[in-house]
Amino acid sequence: MTARNNNSPQTSSSSSTNGETHGSAAVVRAKRVSDIPACAERLRQGDLVAFPTETVYGLGCHALEESAIAKVFKAKERPWTDPLISHVNTLEQALPLWQAEPGSLARRILESLCERFWPGPLTLVAKAAPTVPDLLMAHTGYCAVRSPSHATARALLAAADIPIAAPSANKFGHVSPTTAQHVYDDLCGEDVWILEEELDSNNQSPVKVGVESTVAKLEISNNTSPQLVVLRQGGVSMQQLEQCLQEAGLDDVAVFAVSRATGESVAHVAPGQTLRHYSPRLASFLLSLADNDREPIQEECELLRQTIVVDYGQRLLAYKPFCRAYRDLSPTGDSAEACRALFDTLRWTEQVSGAEQVVFPDFDVANDDALSLASTLR
Ligand code: TXA
Ligand code: MG
Repeated sequence: MTARNNNSPQTSSSSSTNGETHGSAAVVRAKRVSDIPACAERLRQGDLVAFPTETVYGLGCHALEESAIAKVFKAKERPWTDPLISHVNTLEQALPLWQAEPGSLARRILESLCERFWPGPLTLVAKAAPTVPDLLMAHTGYCAVRSPSHATARALLAAADIPIAAPSANKFGHVSPTTAQHVYDDLCGEDVWILEEELDSNNQSPVKVGVESTVAKLEISNNTSPQLVVLRQGGVSMQQLEQCLQEAGLDDVAVFAVSRATGESVAHVAPGQTLRHYSPRLASFLLSLADNDREPIQEECELLRQTIVVDYGQRLLAYKPFCRAYRDLSPTGDSAEACRALFDTLRWTEQVSGAEQVVFPDFDVANDDALSLASTLR
């Protein structure tokens, strides 16, 4: 399911996407580290550092240095047409990246949204300031910025004192990483430092959203009313965005979602939002729930022997005794719990031996629920 894009820059190393090597001995270049000041200095010098956020791990670089940005595209094998998000700690640090004069409509809208949702899983895309590198924005003229809430990410941003551009720290087209190990699995052959996340007082990872940020693009033209176009639905819902704008007296801003992209080439609308974007490296199918509460018939049993079932709310429980492997993202149907488990589960499916395919139930959660919209189904 994860076909490489022909536009992708070629990686400089000989590693494949899961860190295995072809032919000669492994060249492991990535390093797992915990020294935040050293990582900050490395970023300032134009090299790459992967770091945890409350959504997924990001592959960070100096957002204002073209040569550093190019390294991210190469390490990820990402097409040059897919722009990067810049990360900052505060609204004041975001404003120089946008064209949003004090008192302008753009400024009022951006301020309202940032004050409400930052730090957190909302990425705002707005007209870029002239100083923003074209490569960062894939020549769109629009700059995406978000402020992560994860303590390690914030400490890194504070120490580096620069905006840090970071796409998810996976090879292009693969499942997003939620642990340092996931990053290492994808990028071990690249010249990357991977910052371990600080654990809480109980030695646990901080609670995370588990799917990526919502990406919303502000479009303001002279002829039409302002629009906030949701390019990717994630940790913040459309209703939350609408409510925030209404409360700020900005109800003339139309909030809507781009329709789900189905082609492989959607760079101009919502780059990165292809059907394959979230797929594991196995054929993946949705099962209609119409008649799944019965035992499978013999033909189905044969198929199930090579099939991994990734369930949600025990909808496909009847298949559990017959399938190759079974996991439920949330047996109680709790979408936040399922989101947190999603990417790790997708990577787990790739480790199951003898599996040919993965099936999921046809999620029927509310329309703008992060799980249904940011899940494997696209
Ligand atoms: O939660 C997240 O957003 C994570 C963490 C690391 O912050 N980052 C992330 O980055 O998911 P990435 O590159 O995997 O996804 C960013 C999405 C892509 O679909 C990209 O096309 C879109 O945001 N995007 C970035 N800049 C854009 C722009 N200027 N215009 C339109 N879309 C943009
Ligand atoms: Mg990504």
